[in-house]
Amino acid sequence: MTSLVPAPGRDGSAGIETIAESLVCPGCAARVAIGSDSIDCTSCGASYPLRDGIALLAIRGTSETWGEPQAGEQSTSYQGEYQRVDRAAAYNLSYRQRLLKRQSTQREFKLLRQLIGRVGRSRIILDLPCGGSRLTPAFAASADLVIEADIAHGQLLFGRAESSVTTPRLWMTASAFHIPLRDGSVDGTVCVRLSHHLPTAAERERLLTELLRVSRRFVIMTFFDHHSLKNVLRRLRRPLDRQPPKMTMTTARVAELAQERGARLVAAPPLSRIGSGHRYALIVKDQGIA
Ligand SMILES: C[S@@+](CC[C@H](N)C(=O)[O-])C[C@H]1O[C@@H](n2cnc3c(N)ncnc32)[C@H](O)[C@@H]1O
Ligand SMILES: [Zn+2]
Repeated sequence: MTSLVPAPGRDGSAGIETIAESLVCPGCAARVAIGSDSIDCTSCGASYPLRDGIALLAIRGTSETWGEPQAGEQSTSYQGEYQRVDRAAAYNLSYRQRLLKRQSTQREFKLLRQLIGRVGRSRIILDLPCGGSRLTPAFAASADLVIEADIAHGQLLFGRAESSVTTPRLWMTASAFHIPLRDGSVDGTVCVRLSHHLPTAAERERLLTELLRVSRRFVIMTFFDHHSLKNVLRRLRRPLDRQPPKMTMTTARVAELAQERGARLVAAPPLSRIGSGHRYALIVKDQGIA
């Protein structure tokens, strides 16, 4: 396949204009005009800054921003957790320094490579939330371009400075609830370790709706399995330690949500049967498997 993506700059980064045709206003979905220091909506008048090569396109907030009633507990405060680069660094360095986390990352690389292998080569993969680009090297070589997006500016700054892949990448802040891209504008989206931070069913459903809207062929999304050993033990211990319940989903519910959105869950391998409750769901659309 010939790459349609322009050659990257010397630091491996592609400019936001690379995806000019795919970008839309995260607020109203209209076309945007890319200027030298901002991206401006041609319809609602919103203006999004371009700072140090990062497009700041994130809309903060949850269900109130898409017109559903606000629940008592939502993920609003979590959206602010890694805005500062020192907080992002602490998160990402813990994955490099702690043995169990390093082993988990190795298993995650293996799972991602297996699942990406099933969908074949992509022109564009969206990594959302990319965090500090911990997992991008696992799949970047399978695409001509990777879009690195996260609601937290600090994570993007950390990932851009600390990770390296040869595939061209571009960076933008974005909310997974309001992805600033046209329908079907990327081949697929990788969404690791976000859904279990979303306390309401409305947030988790909105997440999958958005991921599938922008993805033409596939979505890889992790979820914390309600029936995992880890969650069963946590529920048994709860009367004693009063730990809050995990935000879980069942594999059956993920399959149902995919089907309601015209897609199919084809695999959901566990990260570990004992040490982790996370599963990696591969959801494909009709033209999903290359
Ligand atoms: C646990 S980290 C996972 C990052 C990366 N996928 C990884 O596995 O290393 C979750 C990330 O989700 C981001 N986040 C939280 N709410 C978000 C939202 N609504 N949209 C996009 N990113 C969000 C946080 O800033 C954080 O970087
Ligand atoms: Zn707009």
